[in-house]
Amino acid sequence: MKKRYLVTAALPYANGPLHIGHLAGAYLPADIYVRYLRLMGRDVVFVCGSDEHGAAITVKARKEGTTPQAIVDKYHAILRDTFEKIGISFDIYHRTSAPIHHATSQDFFRKLNNNGEFIEETTEQYYDETAGQFLADRYIVGTCPVCANPEAYGDQCERCGSTLSPTDLIEPKSMLSGSVPVKRPTKHWFLRLDKHEAWLREWINTGKVDGKQLHHPADWKNHVLGQCNSWLDQGLQPRAMTRDLEWGVDVPPEIPGSEGKKLYVWLDAPIGYISATKQWAQDHGKNWELYWKNPDTRLVYFIGKDNIVFHCLIFPAILKAHGDFILPVNVPANQFLNLEGRKLSTSKNWAVWVHEYCAEFAGQEDALRYNMVKRCRSRATASLPGRVFRKPTTTNW
Ligand code: MF3
Ligand code: ZN
Repeated sequence: MKKRYLVTAALPYANGPLHIGHLAGAYLPADIYVRYLRLMGRDVVFVCGSDEHGAAITVKARKEGTTPQAIVDKYHAILRDTFEKIGISFDIYHRTSAPIHHATSQDFFRKLNNNGEFIEETTEQYYDETAGQFLADRYIVGTCPVCANPEAYGDQCERCGSTLSPTDLIEPKSMLSGSVPVKRPTKHWFLRLDKHEAWLREWINTGKVDGKQLHHPADWKNHVLGQCNSWLDQGLQPRAMTRDLEWGVDVPPEIPGSEGKKLYVWLDAPIGYISATKQWAQDHGKNWELYWKNPDTRLVYFIGKDNIVFHCLIFPAILKAHGDFILPVNVPANQFLNLEGRKLSTSKNWAVWVHEYCAEFAGQEDALRYNMVKRCRSRATASLPGRVFRKPTTTNW
């Protein structure tokens, strides 16, 4: 029997073109790994697509004075074409605005709701009285309590990498109107992450779930394990899986109180891996469930380090809460590439854009790929799961 693999690369936000940091951090390592698996004769499916929801998109639409739909249509096409030019060999490059993705995400939400995985709770959220709307975490800027960066976002500080919540920010301000946001009550669905803490801790640190050895933690990168444990050590709290937004996947309409509520982008985006696999299977007469539900399949997520907790704790909890799905056998996350000492950033327009490289240096795609790989290998942090270039340790790849 051929060994079966499902390899995913983080769905890039369709709010800008691809830069070399994306390439070096996730897509190139994933592509090299997948090409290696194919050469080894493995059964492998490599999926990706555009992440078209969330504040990253609506912020960009506001900036450009256009609609979220226009933004995602524009950048989805650019991203898709750039990946193709630079030779990233996805089996499918999908998008989260696709109807099959909305349906799949809503089914997930229904199942979690029916399984009693949510608690509905009314909490105080920041509201912009001038703009007349609740503020997504990304729409709130303020001073980072960790490093004093005055431009930290309500979900994350891009300078020191801390994961934040809007209430952590010192002197928060609304990005919509510049006014000081006020708190208003609103009801949301919270995933009981606290209920999943014990098995997640055991799974991350021993590779075992219910006594079954699913992976070997020695194969995982230290910084990935480290970030997970630092979250686990603080204790997992219930986390809101819905938002008050106009753009995104609707909470299933038959659920009471769903009006005006959308799924949290970090709920729907990773489900994008599943809907992409479904679409690929439909297009090729294959069975998607073999890749997501059969315990013989090896699932590997390639990501950047700011995505670690979502792929190693939150999405695994979602998959377990749903039932029937497998867990990743490795989550190779990379550190960020810097440009003149600063992290590459789409929102800050600090990047070397891959489509510009491809236009200026047509035919020299491999030169960029080679340079990026060399750079990655010389950074202790970037590598492939199962140590493809080194002697395998515990896992038989
Ligand atoms: N769009 C996110 C980012 O760029 C990554 C999403 S990965 C997925 O950080 F799992 F959610 F798809
Ligand atoms: Zn900071």
